[in-house]
Amino acid sequence: MQHIAILDFGSQYTHLIARRVRELGVLSKIYQPDILAKNLPADIAGIILSGGPQSVYEPGALAIDQKIIKLGKPILGLCYGHQLLANMLGGAVAPGATREYGRAELEIIQSSPLLSGLESPTTVWMSHGDTVTKLAPGFSVLATTTDCPIAAASDEARAIFGLQFHPEVHHTSSGKKILENFVINICQAEREWKIENLLTDLIEKIRRQAGAKNVFLLVSGGVDSTVCFALLEKALGKKRVVGLHIDTGFMRQDESAWIKKALTAAGYNNLRVEDASLIFFERLRRITDPEQKRTIIGQTFLDIKDKIAAELNLNNDAWLLGQGTIYPDTIESGATRHADRIKTHHNRIDAIQEMISQGRVIEPLADFYKDEVRQLGRLLALPDELINRHPFPGPGLAIRILCVSGEPSAMPALSITDIDNNVHCQLLPLKSVGVQGDNRTYAHPLAIWKSPSLLRACPEYVEGRGLGEVLDWEKLDALSSQITNSHHDINRVLLLLNPPANNFAGHLQTAFLTPERVKLLQRIDVIVSEEIKHAGLYDSVWQFPVVLVPFGQAGQESVILRPIVSQEAMTANFARLPKTVLASIVDKIIATKKISFIFYDITNKPPGTIEWE
Ligand code: XMP
Repeated sequence: MQHIAILDFGSQYTHLIARRVRELGVLSKIYQPDILAKNLPADIAGIILSGGPQSVYEPGALAIDQKIIKLGKPILGLCYGHQLLANMLGGAVAPGATREYGRAELEIIQSSPLLSGLESPTTVWMSHGDTVTKLAPGFSVLATTTDCPIAAASDEARAIFGLQFHPEVHHTSSGKKILENFVINICQAEREWKIENLLTDLIEKIRRQAGAKNVFLLVSGGVDSTVCFALLEKALGKKRVVGLHIDTGFMRQDESAWIKKALTAAGYNNLRVEDASLIFFERLRRITDPEQKRTIIGQTFLDIKDKIAAELNLNNDAWLLGQGTIYPDTIESGATRHADRIKTHHNRIDAIQEMISQGRVIEPLADFYKDEVRQLGRLLALPDELINRHPFPGPGLAIRILCVSGEPSAMPALSITDIDNNVHCQLLPLKSVGVQGDNRTYAHPLAIWKSPSLLRACPEYVEGRGLGEVLDWEKLDALSSQITNSHHDINRVLLLLNPPANNFAGHLQTAFLTPERVKLLQRIDVIVSEEIKHAGLYDSVWQFPVVLVPFGQAGQESVILRPIVSQEAMTANFARLPKTVLASIVDKIIATKKISFIFYDITNKPPGTIEWE
């Protein structure tokens, strides 16, 4: 079938490009970036070069076969792809004076078929450190942003286009239109691909892959594993699929019991539930490093699975391991050839990769994103209460409870002077994971707040609660991007919701994963989800992690609220909760008497990830 070829330089978003092209009704296929021109099928309609974590000017940087340019097919370079085209065709690329992560405003300065029908300015999503500094001969600039003079360029005679931003992410408001302009108008690809074929294709694929084998499926009870359970049963029949739900001890409050009940009610009763919390707590007892936590959790899942498989006599020759893995789990674990490892998802540890290479794992949803999985769930007639649940990571609350060992550490020195004078700020002695320019970061967050004296001047100020004028979400969003773009050692910005009347002070204390800390976070998680359900916001907020950090006063801890909106978790905006809802959440958390500070994470993804570890 005629298709668009995507050459993958290891971007976090390569697969998302493929998916966006599918949404336009056109097949797309991903190829290695070093594929030779002669090996590309003749019926490709056009070529997209993805982004990637490298710098084009580094020795050994990935490049394409020069002859691909001469094929005469339209080419669109995105981010690294844009820089690569400039570099290969006689322009220049250098580290940008300012890096850009997240939102930017694009000013269109020249009309072109690629940007046709767009308003100017329009919001685009950036994630880059390098930038094109000189155009290649034959190219002209189509659009700019404040920090990126060559944000879009083209050589129309050769139908070669480059964009520094990412049209494939949901947050580029006209991204879909740009891709449509390229795929349909410029490449003139035919719309032959249909979403309805997906279910039938998947069922056939499962039957082919399983052959005579059965499937022992790990079922967390989240959207992905539930849809996977339903899909496998539909393809193979009830007798050939056995589900195993492992209670790690890091689930939400009473969650395992709820899952058993909801799945049974939906007709999926071929499910064994195993309480393995003691062993998980034991193995994670003194672990503080996030990646170590994730690897141990992944391995423990496998060990428990082996134990139960032996008890049930499900031997490896006749039973495949089933997982509800979806695409972001793979890409963020660095499991595609050129991608950086952002975090190791529990279903992508080395032992699983080994089993995959031996053909012992079946993951029917591994090419899809959460929202597509939900669509499949609806086609399979699963109840809304199972399909519409907020995503929850496999390692659960274990990666939402930060752990620290060693001497208590105080606030790091701060050398920031360029932030709004009305705002106080303080670097916190914690670290969290982020994703910037397709690379993993592990850096300090910056806390910001307004002093109560300033807030008192604001009519909405409520005594004792630091929410007031400060909740101008537009300004906070801009401030947050400004800070993370211009300070390389900061990857998150937190709004302190309950600033003290006097100095803001606190210490980071030694703390590990304990049942008491899990109970506290479960309690706070219940507060938060009840409040947003009560306010009718559960469906518009995509996910609402709460993070417990051993930082505070008098031995208390602090909480970070991380509500986000997203489409498929590859990019996200922090959610803008109404002030009344936030005030109620703050009051209820303070009433536990266990929490010093409550922060609101006002970082988009990128530069932050959704979870903290
Ligand atoms: P991040 O933090 O990478 O999260 O922006 C993206 C989405 O993935 C979820 N997540 C996980 N899900 N196993 C999972 O099944 C994991 O190890 C894992 N880590 C993060 C996260 O909650 C968000 O929805």
